[in-house]
Amino acid sequence: MTESYAIVTNDLTKNFGSVRAVNKLNLKIPYGKTYGLLGPNGAGKTTTIRMLNAIISNTSGNASVGGYDLLTQNEDIRRICGFLPESPGLYSKLTAKEFLEFIGELYYLPKDVISARIDELLELFDLEGRENDLLEGYSRGMKQKVCLCAALIQDPEIIFLDEPTSNLDPAAARMVKNLISELAKKADKTIFICTHLLDSAERLCDIIGIIVDGKLEIEGTPQDIIESVGAKNLEEAYLKITGASHLDDLLAWREENSIKHEVKNKKQRKKKRKNKDSR
Ligand SMILES: Nc1ncnc2c1ncn2[C@@H]1O[C@H](COP(=O)(O)OP(=O)(O)OP(=O)(O)O)[C@@H](O)[C@H]1O
Ligand SMILES: [Mg+2]
Repeated sequence: MTESYAIVTNDLTKNFGSVRAVNKLNLKIPYGKTYGLLGPNGAGKTTTIRMLNAIISNTSGNASVGGYDLLTQNEDIRRICGFLPESPGLYSKLTAKEFLEFIGELYYLPKDVISARIDELLELFDLEGRENDLLEGYSRGMKQKVCLCAALIQDPEIIFLDEPTSNLDPAAARMVKNLISELAKKADKTIFICTHLLDSAERLCDIIGIIVDGKLEIEGTPQDIIESVGAKNLEEAYLKITGASHLDDLLAWREENSIKHEVKNKKQRKKKRKNKDSR
């Protein structure tokens, strides 16, 4: 497939039984770009990322990642990509250091390289001093940091991040956003992010794709997308594209219910007053 693109998908589709999670997805992501896949819960973002990392197989269509064919060269794809899953599993009886050493060995990295990378990453993620503690004793955010370290340990060319800042405190989230920006700009990595943080996506991503019910609704630079629907920012554009009417319906429903509630309360107050007066 095309050499100049880091990720290309051709009608990539995934069905789970009768649910079509991803529906004929066509993406072309150039090397060195940060791509943000946005969409409502259940839209197909995680399924897309899992297919592109050869974690699950696709139902039809095809893709190439880093020039490797998804159907025939999935080992190569796993070798060159870093992947932060949405709900990562950690071996709780390993220490952070042991876990990262294990991941480094899976990539056949030399021991001294693994050791140097681990020190570098633990310092970056503010985990030094805790590296010999068992992962079962780590907080959610600390686990997320270890998973980010694991995704970056082999210094991958193409990095997939599914909700990278979930569970992180504001300072750590900011550090990760800066890191993503540096990896893209200075280290020229290709980064594929799924996120619900629209202001971050607007700042970080060169290209945004919005997926709804498994189908790509719109794609372009954040500015293109904002202008195409006459919005003020990406959040407003996103709400328009994904059907902000749902939000209006919800608000209308709440309003209607609060009016009903108010009427009911008024009637009850009136009844109470009447009872009091008659006593
Ligand atoms: N292993 C699975 N078995 C059955 N259905 C699945 C499975 N994984 C995902 N789905 C379905 O595929 C659809 C897309 O799910 P997916 O996890 O890709 O959504 P998402 O866009 O990542 O959502 P979120 O924003 O909530 O993370 C949903 O309808 C989901 O129920
Ligand atoms: Mg998801």
